[in-house]
Parts: sequence; structure tokens; C-alpha cells
Amino acid sequence: MAPIKIAIIGAGARTIAFCKFLADNPCIAKLIVIADINIKKAIALNTIFKLNADVVNDYHSIIGQKNIDAVIISTPDFAHVNPAVAALKAHKHVYLEKPLATTLQDCDTIIEAARHSHSICYLGFNLRHSPVHEKIYHLVRDGILGKITTIEANEWYYGGKTYFRRWNRLRKFGGGLWLTKACHDFDLITWIAGGSPSSVYATSNLSHYKPIKDAGPRCRDCTFKDTCPDYYDINQPLGHWFDEAWRQIQLKMDQPGQLSTDICLYNSVKDTFDNGIAVINYDNDVRATYTVNVLAAKTTRQIQIIGTKSMAEGDMETGVIHITQRHSAKTESIDLKEHLTGTHGGADEKILTDFFNICANGGKPRSGLDDGRLAVQMSLAATLSDDENKIVAINETNHA
Ligand SMILES: NC(=O)c1ccc[n+]([C@@H]2O[C@H](COP(=O)([O-])OP(=O)(O)OC[C@H]3O[C@@H](n4cnc5c(N)ncnc54)[C@H](O)[C@@H]3O)[C@@H](O)[C@H]2O)c1
Repeated sequence: MAPIKIAIIGAGARTIAFCKFLADNPCIAKLIVIADINIKKAIALNTIFKLNADVVNDYHSIIGQKNIDAVIISTPDFAHVNPAVAALKAHKHVYLEKPLATTLQDCDTIIEAARHSHSICYLGFNLRHSPVHEKIYHLVRDGILGKITTIEANEWYYGGKTYFRRWNRLRKFGGGLWLTKACHDFDLITWIAGGSPSSVYATSNLSHYKPIKDAGPRCRDCTFKDTCPDYYDINQPLGHWFDEAWRQIQLKMDQPGQLSTDICLYNSVKDTFDNGIAVINYDNDVRATYTVNVLAAKTTRQIQIIGTKSMAEGDMETGVIHITQRHSAKTESIDLKEHLTGTHGGADEKILTDFFNICANGGKPRSGLDDGRLAVQMSLAATLSDDENKIVAINETNHA
């Protein structure tokens, strides 16, 4: 099979994983062009990963190019709709990062464009490919756990504090953490629950990253830089290839004021939270809780599922799933550690391989536009619930 020829729109943090995949898998896909409105970032990623692609700042000029089969769109959440519609209209296969969009109106615009396109649109819900979650999905579908009653999903995210330096901290760009972050987990929980979500109750708070008098505005000129545990030295090279590539592109976007790359996590302007819990009801008698906390000491996603026959407890970072039978208390462990390669515990490589395989040979994406829209609807319901302190029926968000 000849490599799939691709374009990438958006050369930011997420695209680092895509570039690594392309550098490691030249037989699967070849980057023809990378576009970013900040062309210096596109140049940096192209150089770091030695991809030898063209680099442009305006995707409009390249989207229709005959030598491009597929487009990866990895712009900030609010900026998905225009490149997605343009790529679908040009009949290019699309890998679109989550969330589908930040409003249902934009979701529907993309869905409409896809309806008229000859190409597929794969929604980047990479967690469906995480070895632990994929295995749990199959345990549920194969009836090993019996009838599912409750799902408890936790996302602990040490690195999530960087959101408060980035666009993710403002709802106008990412819809707030119930959208930009939780849409992933709402999709995952729904995929595993196997029913339709009927209502959501959510509660959250900004408990820690609140303004501190005399701190900031940037780490580099902060009076607390010797004592602050969140001090970030943008000029200090980092050891891991991902972190260092990210630092390199951050150096290309440093600006004064609210766009400074080392803006104070505490004093930056923000309108979202640092910890929250959502309760979701499904129409098939499954209830789920989802906790998201960016104040955690470690980064992982854990999931516990209780069925009438057995319960399963999985941890995405350790790669281990424990299954306990209800009546005998017999336990079994499944160790998937060796599958946790690369970023997002191996999920990124697997989803990209699946996308490129579908581009070449046809097939149905594991996550598509309807899944993307439903996750946005759940996210909007959670946001409304949190804002108004009430249970929100999913269909209340139909016109958001
Ligand atoms: N699936 C996952 O695990 C995962 C993880 C992180 C981020 N994401 C998603 O990936 C997307 C990108 O996030 P990120 O963290 O890389 O953000 P980022 O800000 O680091 O990168 C986005 C890039 O898009 C560029 N851009 C903005 N508008 C553009 C346009 N019109 N044309 C070309 N370039 C444009 C920006 O200059 C920036 O370089 C978001 O939708 C985010 O939610 C997904």
C-alpha cells in the first residue's frame, strides 16, 4: 500500500504526537503539507521530526491539492468547523480532533458537510483505542460482567494545570472543561455503557488556581519564582521528546499579556474550573459518575464497572484490569502493560493506524460524527447543570 498523503492543519501540542507517528511510520502515511496561522510552529514541528513537508500559514490554499488524500485537523476547539467543512467539501478524508465543535450549530454544519462529501470523518476519540478501555468495552459487550449497573470514571490530570496558561481556560475557545476535557470521557463512558444518556448533573469549582496577590503576571518575572511549585522556566530544555517539542513550539508563540506562554496559572484570566464531578443517567438503567481533577498528584484515568456477575477495575497508566466475580469473589488480573506504547498509553498510534487503514481500504471509524455530537450535547448539559445547579435532560441542549 502506498503511504496516505496527508495535510495537517494546526501545529500545536496535539500535533506533536501526529508528527512522531508520521516520522516513525513513513510507509503508512506521508506528510505533504502542514499549516498553522503561526507558521513558525509549523516550521518547528516539520524540522524537529524531519518530515520534509511544505509549510504554509493559510490552509485554504492547500486544501484542494490533488496530492492530498486526507487532512488531520488539530486547531483549537472553536476553530474546528471551518477547516473541517473545507476539507469535507474538497472530498478529503478527515481526522478531526475532539470535540467535534463547541456548539451544536457548528456540529450540525460539519455533519451536513460530511453528508455531501465522498470522504469519511473520523472523530479523534483516541481513548476508545486505549488498551485498558478497549478491553473493558469487550468485557462488557461479551457479557463477562453481567448486566452493568454503575460506572465510575476518574480522570486525574497533573498536567491539566497547563490549561490555565492556554486557550482551554476560556469558554469562548474551548467551551470550558466540561467540553474541551470531559467530552472525551463522556464519549468513553457512553460507549461502554451501551445506552443513551438521558440526564446529567454536574458540579465543579475553581478551588486552587485562583488569583494570588503580588504573583506573576509571568513566571519569568514573578517574585515567588523560587518557591512556587508551579514555576515554569520556558528556557529550560526538557528531557522527554514530547515535552521538549512542546517547549520548542511554545517559544515560537510567546507574546506579552494573556498570551504569554509562562503566564501565571493563578492570575491568568479564566472562566472554568480545576475539579468537578458529573453524574450521568442512561436509558438502559446504567448510572455513571465522572470526576475530573487537574489538581491530582498523578495523571491517569481509572474506571470501575459493577455488573451483576463481576466488577472490573482498570487503570489506563498501569495497564492493569482487575476482575472480581461477585458470588465467588474469585479475582483475575489482565496485564496490558506491554501495549502501553507511545502517547495516551498507545491509543494515539492505534487510532491513527485505524484512520489511515480506513482511508486506504474503506471501513467505518470507531468514532464518528454522531458520537462527536452526542458528546458535545452531554458536555453542554453538564455545563448548564453546573451553571444553574440543576439536573439537565440531554435533550434540553438541543438548540445550544
Ligand atoms: N485527543 C486528544 O487526546 C487531545 C489531546 C490534546 C488536544 N486535543 C485537541 O486537539 C486540538 C488542538 O489542541 P492543542 O492542544 O494542540 O492546541 P494548540 O493551541 O497547542 O494548537 C492549535 C494550533 O492551531 C493553530 N491554529 C488556530 N487556528 C488555525 C487556523 N485557522 N489554521 C491553521 N492553524 C490554526 C494555532 O496557531 C495552534 O498552533 C484541540 O481541539 C484539542 O481539544 C486532543
